[in-house]
Amino acid sequence: MSDTYDVIVIGGGPGGYNCAIRAGQLGLKVACIEKRKTLGGTCLNVGCIPSKALLHATELYEAAEKDFADMGIKTSVSLDHKQLMASKDKTVDGLTQGIAYLFKKNNVEHISGTGKIVDPNTVDVDGKKLATKNIVIATGSEVATLPGIEIDEERIVSSTGALELSKVPGKMVVIGGGVIGLELGSVWRRLGAEVTVVEYLDHILPGMDAEVQKMGLRVFKKQKMKFKLGHKVTGIEKLKTKLKVTMEPSKGGDEATLDADVVLVCIGRRPYTEGLGLDTINVTTDKRGFIETDHFKTNVAGIWAIGDCTHGPMLAHKAEDEGVAVAEQIAGKAGHVNYDVIPGVVYTKPEIAAVGKTEEELKAAGIPFKAGKFPFTANSRARANHDTDGFVKILAHAETDEILGAHMIGVCAGEMIGELCVAMEFRAASEDIARTCHAHPTLSEAIRQAAMGVEGWTMQM
Ligand code: FAD
Ligand code: NAI
Repeated sequence: MSDTYDVIVIGGGPGGYNCAIRAGQLGLKVACIEKRKTLGGTCLNVGCIPSKALLHATELYEAAEKDFADMGIKTSVSLDHKQLMASKDKTVDGLTQGIAYLFKKNNVEHISGTGKIVDPNTVDVDGKKLATKNIVIATGSEVATLPGIEIDEERIVSSTGALELSKVPGKMVVIGGGVIGLELGSVWRRLGAEVTVVEYLDHILPGMDAEVQKMGLRVFKKQKMKFKLGHKVTGIEKLKTKLKVTMEPSKGGDEATLDADVVLVCIGRRPYTEGLGLDTINVTTDKRGFIETDHFKTNVAGIWAIGDCTHGPMLAHKAEDEGVAVAEQIAGKAGHVNYDVIPGVVYTKPEIAAVGKTEEELKAAGIPFKAGKFPFTANSRARANHDTDGFVKILAHAETDEILGAHMIGVCAGEMIGELCVAMEFRAASEDIARTCHAHPTLSEAIRQAAMGVEGWTMQM
């Protein structure tokens, strides 16, 4: 067998590992280079998985503490912090080892080390040169920082530090009311921290449906999370026993301060391509460092890029789909990603889930649409479960009835959005969902009722 690889993938996150596995399945000679000790990238090691493990455990903790008694269940709840962290770490270990197993099963060579592109057919891994026909860059992203604020991962933390705090902070200030701020802010609030979110904009969750943003804010406030909207942090003073956070209105105005034990900085992430050698081989990036691609191809023949280091939503499943599509294209197949149907989920309680266009985007694009909406207060399963916050909204084209977007806030919204993704992938009309039998009593009936609402025949309210 030739020593030349068909594909070398740089980065073993969801983009890279799925690309490598699919390439292996298609019979390509493939290696995946990862500089971290374990495979799985940001998502498995310090992102999706550990955050969801903590969200799940703390949701149960809070329910046991606050909701069980109402249902006639008596408990006495206390926190074993060490075990909470150990349980999360065990989940991460199991899943990262799972990728190593999948590599073996699918003939992917795992090369541990840092990859640097020498030329379109050569990758250097810590001094060793490897020959290849194709290179896939899947090096992901890193946390964006604020000028003058240094992350020490102890008192001033990024999401990585916030996943491993050694004790529950008394007061936590979260800079950024986006996905990480609300998810990890929820984790520590549930465990007893007083959490204040400082958000630059006058709303949380930029890019989400405006009604969802408003209801989310109302519910999180009801849960005793505090918000300073329309504010930016200008500095953090590290005192011996506390942090003094200085902020001012985004549009200018008087300074104010907040005390904190821990500050979580989560103002977005930026592409990570450090040390890859992009300048030397002239791969084009934009002003913010994202690699420019056209159907995953960079401007240099034979070099491809996917996932967080390229444009589009920074989501694991987006990276994964791109990884599969690139492997298929390299193998001569028609790999494809439908960017109109990439769901986004915020795993708070209630969950927030969306796919497709928002009302605001449709209005701005001048696309005529009809909306159907159904609240969980009118859904029998939500009432039986005592989880009635939220609603489902479906947007369909005014003339063709094709579903253009769906937006939900409610318990299990992250699971339920899958139904809308399948419908949209098949270019379903809202009537297709409205006339599909849904089991009773289920939360998914709210989806059907919202779809009925598009034509104005919602039955249950
Ligand atoms: P990454 O996962 O970042 O993987 C890139 C890998 O490349 C890394 O392991 C890195 O070590 C390696 N690498 C970089 N340079 C080199 C080099 N030169 N040589 C060798 N290896 C290199 N997304 C979701 O969809 N759902 C979620 O619930 C979710 N939760 C998240 C929670 C948090 C706290 C964070 C931070 C992110 C979360 N995300 C979530 C986003 C998700 O983690 C990313 O979108 C996803 O990991 C991107 O995959 P990727 O393969 O592009 O990059
Ligand atoms: P984000 O883009 O979701 O939110 C950042 C927030 O910070 C925005 O609301 C922004 O307006 C605000 N902000 C920016 N500068 C600020 C400043 N100076 N002061 C105050 N606020 C400021 O980014 P986040 O939460 O850091 O997450 C990064 C990425 O990770 C996201 O792109 C997301 O896709 C991904 N992620 C996905 C998750 C999921 O799918 N459930 C979970 C966690 C992360």
